[in-house]
Amino acid sequence: MCGIIGYIGSRKASEVLISGLSHLEYRGYDSSGIALMHGNSVDVYKAQGKLVNLIEILKTKQDICDISHIGIGHIRWATHGLPTTVNAHPHTCNCKNLTLVHNGIIENYQELKEILQKEGCIFQSQTDTEVAAHLIAREYGKTNNLLKAMQSAVKQIKGAFAFCAIHKLEPDKIVVAKRNAPLVIGLGEGENFVASDIPAIIEYTKKAIYLSDNEVGVVEKNSIQIFDENDKLIINKVEYLPFEAVAISKMGYKHFMLKEIHEQSDVVRNVLSGKLLGINNEIKLEEFKLTPSEINKITRVQIIACGTSLHAGMVGKYIIEKFAKIPVDVEPSSEYIYRDTIADENTLVIGISQSGETADTITAIKQVKEKKSHIAIITNRADSTMARLADSLLPVNAGIEVSVAATKSYMAQLISLYLLSIFLMEQKFGPSAINDEVKTLKQELIELPSKIEALLENASNIQRVAKKYANYKDFIFIARGINYPSALEGALKLKEISYINATGYGAGELKHGPIAMLDENMPVLAILNTGIVYDKVLSNCEEAKARQAKLIGVTNYIADKDVRLFDDIITVPSGSDLISPAVNIVVLQLLAYYIAEYLGKDVDQPRNLAKSVTVE
Ligand code: AGP
Repeated sequence: MCGIIGYIGSRKASEVLISGLSHLEYRGYDSSGIALMHGNSVDVYKAQGKLVNLIEILKTKQDICDISHIGIGHIRWATHGLPTTVNAHPHTCNCKNLTLVHNGIIENYQELKEILQKEGCIFQSQTDTEVAAHLIAREYGKTNNLLKAMQSAVKQIKGAFAFCAIHKLEPDKIVVAKRNAPLVIGLGEGENFVASDIPAIIEYTKKAIYLSDNEVGVVEKNSIQIFDENDKLIINKVEYLPFEAVAISKMGYKHFMLKEIHEQSDVVRNVLSGKLLGINNEIKLEEFKLTPSEINKITRVQIIACGTSLHAGMVGKYIIEKFAKIPVDVEPSSEYIYRDTIADENTLVIGISQSGETADTITAIKQVKEKKSHIAIITNRADSTMARLADSLLPVNAGIEVSVAATKSYMAQLISLYLLSIFLMEQKFGPSAINDEVKTLKQELIELPSKIEALLENASNIQRVAKKYANYKDFIFIARGINYPSALEGALKLKEISYINATGYGAGELKHGPIAMLDENMPVLAILNTGIVYDKVLSNCEEAKARQAKLIGVTNYIADKDVRLFDDIITVPSGSDLISPAVNIVVLQLLAYYIAEYLGKDVDQPRNLAKSVTVE
């Protein structure tokens, strides 16, 4: 993970770097640092912990900040070595001429380190990055040219990297390189930018060049040169960035997570727009590139994703099997990679990812691509690595999601999967397949934004429940059927931002082991939606109550006779079982949010996590 930034131009480099890093904090936030070039000198400032600590240090270095117009910066999510100041980037070589920031993992760093140590390099940190700094410096000793030194070094490095390097003897440039880690160059007038991601530079420019793997670039104030791995100068396409700076502001909300939860009704409208054109019309999904006859040949679907995106995929399994009648396997990407998966040209593989940069999912997709399966990618970042691997790219347009806890992107993924499932069915079986159940679901999708808004307007009950249960140490979430993934996602939301030990179970599994944990100190949250599993979940609630567990019901209906079972009830708007995951999840997101907020946790940047997990 980690975020990197570089600037060259006439602004104060420190200001651009700090502002950029603040927008990259979602990639890591355990330490940070910048290097400022002025004349032939470079000053490095680093701090452990959040970016504010670095900002405090820089307040005492105003003289340097005022005169430096070239610099590189980094925000870290530790992989090699503790999150200490010494391990924070930038890293330098022994003579301190070369300074480097890095995102990624150098797999052969031990091997390289031993060679470099034998040659006399002395290491200050435990990081793999410092190895790269010494290596590039060694190559500089042979070439006296930073571009050539970088080109030679990256050929010796195995693993993933995005690098930004500056050198005291070439003070008018930043040299960059990338492989399996994102890197974008922002183009300005008399200034240029480098970053791991667009939010870091969007306030300065809307034009950018995305570097491809194994390319090395020289970024100067008025020019950019990019070379491929054969040292050939290439012209990369200039792309226009899709985001507004306002999309990365809190807009008056206390946290990004709360803002993003509130954006969900609009997200649903966005995803449906142009695709769901009425309950009697077929779904339009031009982005899906298989023809009806090719769809008819699909014998299986594999959904690969991680975390919250995986939970969306689990809902997807339920609805694709129901409508398209194709068997679906859902698997965490990290598990998919290391076994002999069976896929062929009749397999539809769906990769789901908010960021489009999750390393496990990228690796799994690359692996299955070789088997000639059709790759559909559902992502919130149409500019991501995963998007570029897609045969069919289904962008979800939820807008930039800043909070580490995924909320609106999950909603967008769910809606995308509803559309895809109905689309596959309609393409496979023709318009006659649009039966009453499908029409009802389409109608419910159209009405979903107002249901979400109604829920958000009446959040005080959720707030009350959150306060009541905030001090419990453990939580169990149960549900069955299409809401089983909702239970998993609700538990994930709670644990990741409040650090409460929360686990989701299929309600029917409770009696096969987890019930042993139940007593008055273990609240059980049950998702109860009218439909095929309603009575079964209710029985599971009885079983939990009989073990003195505190019971919270999240439900669209409860008979008067059953109210006694529950300590607290959160009512959601009525609707079918099929649409209910998209309604229930809003309650679970809010509950997790209010508990974490009540406990005073760092909601948007929970400990040990990062938004974009770019390491396997
Ligand atoms: C969700 O709240 C988490 N932050 C995490 O599980 C996330 O969903 C996972 O890392 C996958 O990320 P992606 O969707 O960007 O691939």
